[in-house]
Amino acid sequence: MQRRTFLLGSAALAAGGALWLRPGDAGGPYPAYFAQLNALLRAQGPGRPLIIIDRERLGRNCARVKATLAPGKAFRVVAKSLPSLPLLQEVMGLMDTQRLMVFHQPHLNTLARALPQSDLLLGKPMPVNAAATFYRTLGATAFQPARQLQWLIDSPERLQEYLQLAQTLGTKLRVNLEIDVGLHRGGLASPAELKPLLALMAAHPAHLEFSGFMGYDPHVGKIPGVIESRDKSFAKACAAYRAMQDALFAQHPDWRGRDLTFNGAGSPTLRLHDEKSPLNEVAAGSCLVKPADFDLDLLADLEPAAFIATPVLKVQRDVTIPGIEGARRLLSAWNPNQQRSYFIYGGLWLARYEAPPGLFDNGLYGRSSNQAIVTSSAQVPLRVNDHIFLRPTQSERVLLDFGDLAVVEDGRISAWWPALPA
Ligand SMILES: Cc1ncc(COP(=O)(O)O)c(C=O)c1O
Repeated sequence: MQRRTFLLGSAALAAGGALWLRPGDAGGPYPAYFAQLNALLRAQGPGRPLIIIDRERLGRNCARVKATLAPGKAFRVVAKSLPSLPLLQEVMGLMDTQRLMVFHQPHLNTLARALPQSDLLLGKPMPVNAAATFYRTLGATAFQPARQLQWLIDSPERLQEYLQLAQTLGTKLRVNLEIDVGLHRGGLASPAELKPLLALMAAHPAHLEFSGFMGYDPHVGKIPGVIESRDKSFAKACAAYRAMQDALFAQHPDWRGRDLTFNGAGSPTLRLHDEKSPLNEVAAGSCLVKPADFDLDLLADLEPAAFIATPVLKVQRDVTIPGIEGARRLLSAWNPNQQRSYFIYGGLWLARYEAPPGLFDNGLYGRSSNQAIVTSSAQVPLRVNDHIFLRPTQSERVLLDFGDLAVVEDGRISAWWPALPA
């Protein structure tokens, strides 16, 4: 082959390769669902970033999760993942449960006061000062902590601290023990660790009462398959849970008939816990609004029910980067998704662009939480005062950041639900 032919051939190949690498046009109009929401918000929205809760989708998600709960498993709502009192009340009604899992002392006080009939289990071991703050600020309420609240304890040291608090307050604390079923985030790692804790509780029956175990298993299904399959991790987690129960009942055979809480699971593993699993209740919250991190095969029947909506403030017919203004033609010629830029109200959320399709951040321009730049192709027909919709990747932080949540049903905003204190 002649050198010239070779060079020409290589250049053609490189050009072909570059074309192949060139991003495709991902833009398009709003799907019907978001076109309707945008029309609603243009007409009646508050003109600021907000969270939308689709009440119909939320209802369908609750019905589907309830219908697929294994027999003998109660449902405990994870409060941090649905952080709004009316949202929690709605879900508790639909799921027919009074059980909540709580992760934040201000939430604990709010929920104990507002829902005096609820049954509360802490989802993480709280510093004893948080427990002290809870009792100090509880005030007059029909909620009875000694009957309706389980503190989570992960070590003998923490149990000692809680014992002292109970003695100081002259009250009895119910104690649920955190057990490690494979997540390795703390808690009792082996049944041998159970004995001293049970002994301390037995020695102080006026102040401490054992109420059950909590073993969270979100590592199941997250470990790469070549290392360990989901089935294997799940079997190991259940075996670890059972070993703790066996050790408990070996020591206290009469406790088999007692009303104990054997909590576990979370949205990712809820559907794995069939009637053979050692739990008598499962905890979940996120799956009911289904943020993007919960797009999992086991939750495929559930629908996203929470979105961020934010107004477009400015529309520009190109993407102009300070310092390289001359490159704008080149940028849009190379990447059709850089033909338009929008500056939106807010930004930098834990969320992914959802609608219209084909919206992107711009790494060259930089990111902003005040007035973020978003780019798209010319196929996206966004105008000023239209809304961009994003799907939170997780709900627990994002739903706290927007003030009251806008509840949408029957094509209208039917309510504004306050978020819990951050
Ligand atoms: C102890 C515990 N249980 C359950 C859950 C599950 O919550 P979700 O269903 O919202 O993922 C969590 C989430 O962090 C957790 O920490």
